Amino acid sequence: MSILDKFTPLAEARKGLAGLGADPFAVTFDSVSSPAEATIDGRPVLILGSNNYLGLTFDADVIADGLAALEKFGSGTTGSRIANGTFGGHHALERRIAEVFRRKHALTFSTGYQANLGMLMTLVGKDDTLLIDADSHASIYDGARMAAGQVIRFRHNDPDDLARRLRRLEGAPGETLVVIEGIYSMLGDRAPVAEIAAVKREHGVTLLVDEAHSFGVLGPNGLGAMEEAGVYDDADFIVGTFSKSLGSVGGYCVSDLDGFEILRLACRPYMFTASLPPSVIATTLKALDHVENRPELRQRLAANADRLYSGLAKAGFKLGAQVSPIVSVRLPDIPVAAAFWGALLAEGVYVNLALPPATPTLEPLLRTSVTAAHSFAQIDRAIAAIVAVGNRLGVIGADAVSSAQ
Ligand SMILES: Cc1ncc(COP(=O)(O)O)c(C=O)c1O
Repeated sequence: MSILDKFTPLAEARKGLAGLGADPFAVTFDSVSSPAEATIDGRPVLILGSNNYLGLTFDADVIADGLAALEKFGSGTTGSRIANGTFGGHHALERRIAEVFRRKHALTFSTGYQANLGMLMTLVGKDDTLLIDADSHASIYDGARMAAGQVIRFRHNDPDDLARRLRRLEGAPGETLVVIEGIYSMLGDRAPVAEIAAVKREHGVTLLVDEAHSFGVLGPNGLGAMEEAGVYDDADFIVGTFSKSLGSVGGYCVSDLDGFEILRLACRPYMFTASLPPSVIATTLKALDHVENRPELRQRLAANADRLYSGLAKAGFKLGAQVSPIVSVRLPDIPVAAAFWGALLAEGVYVNLALPPATPTLEPLLRTSVTAAHSFAQIDRAIAAIVAVGNRLGVIGADAVSSAQ
């Protein structure tokens, strides 16, 4: 007997996947030469499975600022803000994030995961209630697990179900926090934020929106789904990450709420972990400049998303409901999905394999995503490869599609 025995079913599932010719957990990039190109096992691949939406990871100015900070401040802070000190860069980044979002306060975290974990577990006290969308990211679920109050799930993207559950809570003690995401990471669908904001207003509850996949992507200024829908002011808290459109690592929460600053002494995932390295702060600050000053990146991203989505839809694949930079192909079963993923890699196209139970519809997904750095020629090459493999595996067309429903 071993303390690890409980993981035997998981280990067996992984072995089974490798037996089907796909072990996405074993893929290693030997080198990466641009947001769209890398080598795996010495062979060139087109990266069609990242969150590098604006393609900023190789931007010359971003790299120059990162290098300068590395030389000036060293490789890391070696500790937490409360114990080992805040660097000027932490303040500068928080001021800049607050400015970009037009909010009074900003708190940065070492990852977006920690931002959700920290905000939810800290905000929701024992008399409070937390309502989360059923398809929420793991960081929201984990934050909910660590929250002291009652947790209620509402149906994915269903404002009526949310309203029904809020009506049942009328008269309950404490505060109510509703958490949604701007764009959901598996199928790329966006939340009906205008309707949810209306429910929020009617019931007088607090709203936290995770714009991890929508910051830099949606809205006239790239502020996310709330801005795009014209209900920006209804978000009491906006959480996000530096690891997607900003191309670095870290997380944040912004808010106008008075009293927000006390969270620096109450939020354990903020307090008890090493703070962001100066080079990461510097690259993030430069990437924020690009979000603000280069709207053409968002336009290019949208054009690429449209091209990939319509190309795959036209070929007869079953996709998520809406065009977004995340374009997921819904497949009937795990063996087909594993074979599809492995064949695409052999064709030189790297995508993500997402398997149930981690997928919202419990179907396996080939999750693809575009960046502003992709050329139309690269998108077309990816479409051609996906269609060729789909034809070979017989998963294109109405019959293959309906077997998954
Ligand atoms: C919706 C959502 N929130 C938060 C996170 C966590 O972000 P990070 O990678 O910075 O930990 C992710 C990451 O995939 C996400 O998809």
